[in-house]
Amino acid sequence: MPMDAHPGPLRVLVFGAALRAESTNARLASLVARLVADTGATVDHAVMRDFDMPLYDGDVEAAEGLPHGAFALRDRLERCDAFVISSPEYNGSVPGALKNALDWVSRVQPQPFKTKHALLVSASPSLVGGNRGLWALRVPLEHLGTRVYPDMFSLARAHQGFTADGQLTDSGLQQRLTETVTAFLSLVEADVRYVCLERRWYEFLGDRTEAPVTQRAED
Ligand code: FNR
Repeated sequence: MPMDAHPGPLRVLVFGAALRAESTNARLASLVARLVADTGATVDHAVMRDFDMPLYDGDVEAAEGLPHGAFALRDRLERCDAFVISSPEYNGSVPGALKNALDWVSRVQPQPFKTKHALLVSASPSLVGGNRGLWALRVPLEHLGTRVYPDMFSLARAHQGFTADGQLTDSGLQQRLTETVTAFLSLVEADVRYVCLERRWYEFLGDRTEAPVTQRAED
C-alpha cells in the first residue's frame, strides 16, 4: 500500500454474548462501543440474537450447510478489523451459546477469526467479574488464530456497576476500561495501517489440508 494511502477508520465489531434482555454484558458492550466510537473508529454494535443458531450438529451441517446465524456472524467478522466480546462466565467457563457460535463459524472456509484482533471483557455479579470465563474463551479463539489482546477487563458486582447513563459507577474502573480499549485499538491500528510490520502471529493448521475430515463449509 502506498505511504499516503489511508485504509479508513478502524472497523470494530462489539457484541455482548448473553441473550437476556437485561444482560449486564450487553450494557458493558454498549459502553465499550461508545468508547470505541470516541476514538474515531467505526462501530458495528451487534447483539447475540443477531447470531441465533441451533446446536452444532455435523449431520445438519452435511445435509443443510451452515445456519443463517453463523453466516451472519461470519459476514460481520469479515467486515471488521477487530472485535470485542463481552461475555458472562457460566460455571467458570464460556457460555454454551457463545461456544456453539464459535464452533459453527469455525466451519466456514476461510474461517474468519484468524485475521482478527480481539479484546475480551466480562461482567458478573460475582467478585471476580467473570474473569475465569475469559481465560476459557481465549482457548478456542487463539486456537482459531485470533490475536487476543493480553489485557482483559472484568466488571465485578456488575448488577451495581452502571450509572443510569451507562457509565461505570466506579470512576477508577471507567478510566481503566477506557485505557484498555484505547491501548487495544492502538495495537490494532498499528497492525492494520503499517502493513510493513505484518507477520504471522499464529499458525492454524486446519487451513493447510484438504483432508475430508477437516474440510470446512463454504456458502
Ligand atoms: C452463572 N453465573 C456465574 N457467574 C460467575 O461469576 N461465575 C460463574 O461461574 C457463573 N456461573 C453461572 C452459570 C449459569 C448457568 C448461569 C445462568 C449464571 C451468573 C452470571 O454471571 C450472571 O447471571 C450474569 O448476570 C450473566 O450475565 P448477563 O446475563 O447479566 O450478561
